[in-house]
Amino acid sequence: MRKILILNLVIVFFFGCNQQTATTSTKKLNDLDQKVDSLLNIMTLEEKIGQMNQYNGFWDVTGPVPSNGDAAKKYEHLKKGLVGSMLNVRGVENVRKVQKIAVEESRLGIPLIIGFDVIHGYETQSPIPLAESASWDLKAIKKSAQMAAKEAAAAGINWTFAPMVDISRDARWGRVMEGAGEDPFLGSKIGVARVEGFQGKDLSNPYTLAACAKHFAAYGFAESGKDYNTADVGLSTLYNTILPPFKSAHEAGVKTFMNSFNELNGIPATGDKFLQRDILKGKWHYEGFVVSDWGSIMEMIPHGYAKDKKHAAELAANSGSDMDMESYAYVNELASLVKEGKVSEELITDSARRILRVKFELGLFEDPYKYCNSDREKTVIGSKEMHDAALDMAKKSIVLLKNSNNILPLKKSGQKIALIGALASDKNSPLGNWRLAAKDNSAISVLEGMQAYKDNELSYAEGAAVYLGETNFPSELVLNTTDKSKFNEAIAIAKKADVVVMVLGEVGYQSGEARSRADLGLPGVQQELLETVYKVNKNIVLVLNNGRPLTITWADENIPGIVEAWQLGSQSGNAIAQVLYGDYNPSGKLPMTFPRSVGQVPIYYNYKNTGRPGPKREVFWSHYQDETNKPLYPFGYGLSYTSFDYKDLKVSNSSGNINVSVEITNTGQVKGKEVVQVYIRDIIASVTRPVKELKGFELIELTPSESKTITFQLTKKELGFYNNQGDFIVEPGEFQIFIGGSSDTNLKTTIDYK
Ligand code: NOJ
Repeated sequence: MRKILILNLVIVFFFGCNQQTATTSTKKLNDLDQKVDSLLNIMTLEEKIGQMNQYNGFWDVTGPVPSNGDAAKKYEHLKKGLVGSMLNVRGVENVRKVQKIAVEESRLGIPLIIGFDVIHGYETQSPIPLAESASWDLKAIKKSAQMAAKEAAAAGINWTFAPMVDISRDARWGRVMEGAGEDPFLGSKIGVARVEGFQGKDLSNPYTLAACAKHFAAYGFAESGKDYNTADVGLSTLYNTILPPFKSAHEAGVKTFMNSFNELNGIPATGDKFLQRDILKGKWHYEGFVVSDWGSIMEMIPHGYAKDKKHAAELAANSGSDMDMESYAYVNELASLVKEGKVSEELITDSARRILRVKFELGLFEDPYKYCNSDREKTVIGSKEMHDAALDMAKKSIVLLKNSNNILPLKKSGQKIALIGALASDKNSPLGNWRLAAKDNSAISVLEGMQAYKDNELSYAEGAAVYLGETNFPSELVLNTTDKSKFNEAIAIAKKADVVVMVLGEVGYQSGEARSRADLGLPGVQQELLETVYKVNKNIVLVLNNGRPLTITWADENIPGIVEAWQLGSQSGNAIAQVLYGDYNPSGKLPMTFPRSVGQVPIYYNYKNTGRPGPKREVFWSHYQDETNKPLYPFGYGLSYTSFDYKDLKVSNSSGNINVSVEITNTGQVKGKEVVQVYIRDIIASVTRPVKELKGFELIELTPSESKTITFQLTKKELGFYNNQGDFIVEPGEFQIFIGGSSDTNLKTTIDYK
C-alpha cells in the first residue's frame, strides 16, 4: 500500500507540473489523460511494454497451456512490472495475492487489471447470451449483465471479456451461443445493453466491470461454421452486418476490444491494420485498448503471416493490438523491436496509455484492492438477488415454437406426466459452456422444477444418455450413438402418461468455443428415442436444451408442443416448469433462424433477392432440388399462450423520417407479451439491400382484448446503409415497410421516401 501512495504522490506531482504547461498549451488534455501522462513520464520502455503483457493465472485455463511459460517466470515478471493484466485469477484471496505482488514489489507499483470471461454470470449463471437475446428485452439483458458484473466484481474481477458481438448466420459454429444471433440491428442493441449493464454509469463503482467487445472482427463468419476458420467476407457484409454491433458498443463507451483468431480476407485479425488502426482507432476514434485473443499473436505464424514470434509481435503492435494475451510475444520481443526501429516507441506509449487510462477509470490507482472485499464476496456471490434475477431472465428467454391443440400449458392437477431425457435431470448442462466459476451440478434441473408442482403424478426415465463418459471441459465429447438400453423404461412410463415431456438436445459443452457441429439434429440416439416414444404416446411436449438452432424438422411435423429452452443457467428447471404450467406466459422470439436441414446453412432472414428469386421458372431459379428455401422457424418467430392481431398499418413521411404505426390487440384469453417488429426493404439501391432488415422493435404487454397503437420513427440512421467504401449513405426512393410478430410477417406497405 505504501508503494501506491508514493505512486499517487508522483502522479499528483507530475500532474501538477503538466497542468501548468497545459494552460499554455493549445492541446487541452483532460485530468485523466494528464494523470496517465504523468505516469508514462516516469516509466521505462520495458515497463510500458509490461502494461501490454497479459498472463493467465495459474489456477484455471481457457485455452491451451503455454509450453514456454511457467508460474515462476510469471511471478518474476510480475515483480519486475512486466505484467499489466492477469486473466483467470479469481476470488478475493487470489486476486489480492497477485495484486499485492504487482503493487508492492514492482518498481512503480502499477496495479493489474484482472480479466475473466464473465459471459452470462459468474457463479450464478444466467441464460447463455443467445438465449437472453431471445427475450428481446433490453432492460432485462442490461440487468443480467449488471448482476453478473456485481457478482464477478465481488470476486476480485474488474474486467470481463464480454459482450461477444459477433454476428453469425451459421448454426454449425459453436459460439453462436455466446452472441446475439444473426441480426446486426438486434445485435447492436443487445451489445449496448450488455456494455451498459457491465460498466454502469461510473466505472469506478466497485460493482461494475470494464467490458470488452469481441471478437474484432468477422470471427462469426468462420467458413463452414468451423471454429477458428478463415473468414472471407465482402465489403458490404463487413460494413453492414459485421461491424455495426462493434461500432455501437464503441459508441456506448465500451472500454476494451478483443481482436480475433480468424483471418479476414487474408489478414489475421490480430495483425490487421485496416480493422484496428484505420477503422477502430482511426475512423471511429476509439480510445480504449485492444487485447489479443488467447495466443492469437503467435497464431499468426501458423496462419502463414508472421515468420516467427518476433515478427508476430511487430505485426500485432504495429497494427494496433495493445495487449498480448498469453503469447509472450510482447514481453519478449517488443523492446528489441523498438531498438531496431521496427516498432516506434510512440506506439508503445500509445498502447500503455490506453491501458493505464482504463486502470485509472476503474479507480485502481486509488485503491488497487477495491475489488478485494471478503465480506462483499461472501454476501454477494450466489445471493438470492442473483438467483432471482437469473430466474427472471431465464423465463424471458424461453421461446414457444409450437403449441398444437393447446397442449400447453399443462394442467396442474390430475395428470400423469412422464418426464423423459437425460437432460431433464441434468444439473450441469443448463450452466452452458462459459461457467468457469459456477459450481458443478448447481443448476435446477427440469425434474426438480417440475417436482415443485405436486398435484400431478410425475415419473421420470432417462431414456438415453446424450454422451458417453466424461462431458466436462475441456474433454472431447463422445456421443452416445449406440446405447439404447434405457429406452424401455422411457416407453413404459410414456405408455401410462397423459402427457409426455421430453427434454432433449445438447449438453452444456456441446456448444461454445471449438464446439462446431456438422450435423444439427438432436445428437446421438435422442431422435430415435423421440420417435420411439412417439409410437406409444403422441401427446408429447418437446423441451429443447441447446446452444444453437437445431434441425428438428421431424419434431416440428409430428410433436404437438415444442419449447425452446436453450441453456438457461442456474434457475433453468424452475423457469421451464413455470412456462410448462402456464405460470409464466412465454414471449421469446428467435434471434437466429432455425434451418430445416443443415444444407441450408448459412440461412438468415435478411438475405439478398438475387436475379432469380423465383419461383418463376421450372428449374433455373435460386433454390435447392431437395429442400425448400424456407427455414423451419424464421428469425423473430415465437408463440405465446395468447394470440395477437395486427391491423391499421400506417406510414408517412415527416421531415426526413418515416413514421410507422400499427394497432395490436390481444385476441386470446390470457395476458401476454409481444415483440412488435418493424422491417424495411430498400427496393432499389446503389448497393443491393436485403429483402428485409429489422429496424425497430418494442416489447409490449396486453391483457385480453386490450389494444395498443405502437409508433416507430425510422430516421436516416435506420434508412441508410454503408456503401463499399464504408461511407454511410441514405438514398431516397421506394421502401417497403413490414410490421408483425416475426420476420416472416406479410403485413406490409410501400412508401416513397423523400
Ligand atoms: C479465447 C476466446 O476466444 C475468448 O473469447 C476468451 O475471452 C479468451 N479465450 C479468454 O478466455
